[in-house]
Amino acid sequence: MESTRKQLIELLSEQQGHISGQALSQSLDISRTAVWKHMKELERDGYEIEAVQRKGYKIVSFPNKVSENTLQWGLNTDWLGHNLHHYAEVASTQEVVHQLAKQGKPHGTVVIADQQVQGKGRMSRNWDSPKGKGIWMSILLRPELLPYQAPQLTLLTATVLAEVIADQSSITPYIKWPNDLLVHHKKVSGILTEMQAEQDQIQYVVLGIGINVNQDTADIPEGLQHKATSLRIESQQEWSIQQTIQRILRQFERTYDQFIQNGFSEVKPKWEEYGYKIGEKVTISTMKKSWQATLVGIEPDGALLARDEMGNVEKLYSAEIHWGEGGYNA
Ligand code: BTN
Repeated sequence: MESTRKQLIELLSEQQGHISGQALSQSLDISRTAVWKHMKELERDGYEIEAVQRKGYKIVSFPNKVSENTLQWGLNTDWLGHNLHHYAEVASTQEVVHQLAKQGKPHGTVVIADQQVQGKGRMSRNWDSPKGKGIWMSILLRPELLPYQAPQLTLLTATVLAEVIADQSSITPYIKWPNDLLVHHKKVSGILTEMQAEQDQIQYVVLGIGINVNQDTADIPEGLQHKATSLRIESQQEWSIQQTIQRILRQFERTYDQFIQNGFSEVKPKWEEYGYKIGEKVTISTMKKSWQATLVGIEPDGALLARDEMGNVEKLYSAEIHWGEGGYNA
């Protein structure tokens, strides 16, 4: 965006009340006619501007579209997303954040794209990220945690997403261990946590969040339709991507700060509240055996707890879980 326009939006956003044309023209070093022309352009782009004689201008509402300005306006976070980058298209927001991290960008930097052409999923899978249909976002964190605690950030993120989705609609999301979000047994969201660490110190974490938001069934590749869905398909409502991102960032910051202060104990029950098939029977297979067990919860290190028919509780770090009805296998 042209820098004058960006500065103009910043000046108007900082102001509680109106700001005079005179003050704007002085701050931006442009004529008052040029200020007026910029205002008309903003209105054409969907900004609602109030112009009051002898008082000046005020932004009443931002357009409902995703941009650095619209995302930051009214975000109300203390540290998350103050450094925010929005792109129309990237290969993967994960890669962009890795680069920014190496350049020393701060904790809480956020990268969002309308479209990813090489979106990455877990286990080297692709992540389908069509233009304008979902939330494709990566967050840079520089937590003072030990590397073994990093999986807790993923579990925490899954609870944040579940809470935001549940608060905004009548659908009930479930977190399928370790961190897929399901609605009606189909996946709507996935989390990819990547970390740069030494043995006893995390340098940085890149937390990738992908949410299928406004896809119709036809937008979902045919081979995935039996196991993937979108918030729109499940809720029958159109979602504001911009407002949903803002809600996620606010809720994430709150939950993250509590976690850093008080530890994982407050996250664990929330994860379990949304946990998929917690309290239910599933079949578990490892290389050596296959057995029936009841899922009972998670451990702070991210392990899944499963109780076998003899009452023994086992901690699972990697196992194939046959989720049964609908929920495809992990
Ligand atoms: C999964 O369930 O396999 C994880 C999917 C993570 C996708 C997100 S979209 C934003 C970020 N950028 C990527 O390339 N991947 C993550």
